[in-house]
Amino acid sequence: MIPPLYWNDEAFRVELLDQTLLPVEERWIPIETPEQMAEAIRKLRVRGAPAIGIAASYGVVLALRAPESHVEMVRKAIALLRQTRPTAVNLFGALRRMEAVADAYATADRHTLAQRLLAEARAIESEDREAGRRLGAYGLEVLKEGMRVLTHCHTGGVATSGYGTALAPFILGKERGIRLEAWVDETRPLLQGSRITAWELQKAGVPATLITDSMAAHVMQRGWVDAVIVGADRIAANGDVANKIGTYGLAVLARAHGIPFYVSAPISTIDFETPSGEAIVIEERDPREITHGFGRQTAPEGIRVYNPAFDVTPASLITAIITDQGILRPPYAEALQALRERLDTP
Ligand code: MRU
Repeated sequence: MIPPLYWNDEAFRVELLDQTLLPVEERWIPIETPEQMAEAIRKLRVRGAPAIGIAASYGVVLALRAPESHVEMVRKAIALLRQTRPTAVNLFGALRRMEAVADAYATADRHTLAQRLLAEARAIESEDREAGRRLGAYGLEVLKEGMRVLTHCHTGGVATSGYGTALAPFILGKERGIRLEAWVDETRPLLQGSRITAWELQKAGVPATLITDSMAAHVMQRGWVDAVIVGADRIAANGDVANKIGTYGLAVLARAHGIPFYVSAPISTIDFETPSGEAIVIEERDPREITHGFGRQTAPEGIRVYNPAFDVTPASLITAIITDQGILRPPYAEALQALRERLDTP
């Protein structure tokens, strides 16, 4: 799997795959400052809930690049990176961990502080890699040989640091000789499905068929979809799930057609502090993503546009939430509370 970024120790910087150029070009861009990392996250050069947490963590380390830098610059970088995108909770969880390290080593010399922060960023990245493998394995407990599985947005390698979230069972299945077929939703307006999911599945040799979002109902009606699996940007304490815009519609469609609807996400995507989906902040993005998608004007000048990047799927429409710590079934409030208690037990 291609990672979304890697740390270049020699140059003390991040090399980041610019996902906005996929699938036509695989260009790696150097990121040397927290400001450049914040810009990359805002512009979706790096995107996907786990990946933006990982990217932001390394972005914090970059605050210590200059010889005269110090802990206050780290704190400033954390504040800046927190402002980049509001919905995916992984970003905030990762920055909280970086902040705790900055606090613990606030009086240390620059080298020590940088090494500690770097170690934490690496830990966040490798924990996510391990979580992806486990998500794949748990996913294969519900997705079986020969199933035709519809997925939305992009939830694979470059959105995480390894197998991905919802794509993990496809990739692990391929490795284990279990054949899953993917229906890939194009994912309007920025086409993460066609640009990135289709590209990754093709590279991995997973059979995949691309459709536009509006074709999902049709293929379900024909009986060609056995399950839906999506990732998540934030899972509330009652099991409501925020994910890429269009996910809620798929959940409604799946219910109408009697198709199981699965969410696959690492525990870093669970927000135990947010009681329900209603409290999740939904990012609204530039109207030009709709009126001038990919460089060409496709709407009349001056038209009013609403462009939410995510929607909330109510827990009641979700068959199971697959986490790296096991598969959760309804009622989710209880299942999530039990998971929380298990995680809190030393
Ligand atoms: O706006 P994006 O591309 O960052 O949105 C990504 C998604 O909604 C993914 O489905 C989500 O992060 C799931 S896990 C990678």
